[in-house]
Amino acid sequence: MKRRTFIKTSVVAVASSTVFKPFHIRAESKKYRFGFSQVTIVEPWRVQFNKDMKKEADLHPELDLIITDGQDKTEKQVADVENLIQQGVDVLLISPKESAGLTGVTLKAIDAGIPVIILDRNVNTDKYTQFIGGDNVAIGRAAGEYTVKLLGGPGNAKGNIIELWGGMGTQPAHDRHDGFEEFVGKESGIKSLLQPIDTDWKQPRGYEVMSTALKSFDKVDLVYGHNDPVAYGAYLAAKDAGREKEMKFLGIDGLPNEGVTWVAKGQLTATFLYPTPGAEGVRQGLKIMKGDKVEKKIILPTKTIDASNASEILKENGLA
Ligand code: FRU
Repeated sequence: MKRRTFIKTSVVAVASSTVFKPFHIRAESKKYRFGFSQVTIVEPWRVQFNKDMKKEADLHPELDLIITDGQDKTEKQVADVENLIQQGVDVLLISPKESAGLTGVTLKAIDAGIPVIILDRNVNTDKYTQFIGGDNVAIGRAAGEYTVKLLGGPGNAKGNIIELWGGMGTQPAHDRHDGFEEFVGKESGIKSLLQPIDTDWKQPRGYEVMSTALKSFDKVDLVYGHNDPVAYGAYLAAKDAGREKEMKFLGIDGLPNEGVTWVAKGQLTATFLYPTPGAEGVRQGLKIMKGDKVEKKIILPTKTIDASNASEILKENGLA
């Protein structure tokens, strides 16, 4: 109760700045407690994300990290965040299932004076302390440019493509589409076969949507999946239909044991790296605790992974 009052008054004093020092000076014996609300742990990229975060947290004995699992449901994730607010964590990190559903509870944490770091998928407010994630428009552009090249080059590109969206309630899916469109939309010879369709970022959905699409279209030249699991699900569907050689598959994420491996095997033509913000999230949270000013947005880099560099990346990761 006492602490709460303290937080409220302090927040007024620092409202225009992202420096939270006044109410987070740590007694020698007290550890910082960071609460991280993760959306799910079933997707491989999320598993890697949590690993990256724990690895960084382990380097800091002054830090206790609590990670919750939203079980891929907005209601569960909202309850997790409510719970972390109740526990009075020093920093709250949230990687939302979808933007709209997590906005209210994010604002609640901010009102309670807790520094909030949003990771990967955003929320519909910019009142948070910081956002860390990849530039999904830039990734979409890289995929679009690559597609145009594969299909004949600017001005000459031709072909039928299938775009498999991630989760439509999330910004990364829209950004990955918009960036892609900037290149592909200029090519009158490229035809997009499907209306936007939500795969919720899941491999089985990629498989299902692709199986249905293959029944309607007898010529597909390229599939653009908004992440590697979806692209790989589509690849498996094409393989089961005996048509995988007919088309190219592009994905996003570039995890060594997934996307990069599929590229090295020739199953995907390319993937675009989408680094997890796990380690950076912990580092930035500690900066906030020390009273350092942090940037409003940190954008993580991407790179194209295809036959030219996939095996090298596997070697670097001890996988070849
Ligand atoms: C994991 C994931 C990644 C994707 C990211 C987008 O949940 O689907 O595969 O790149 O989320 O937010």
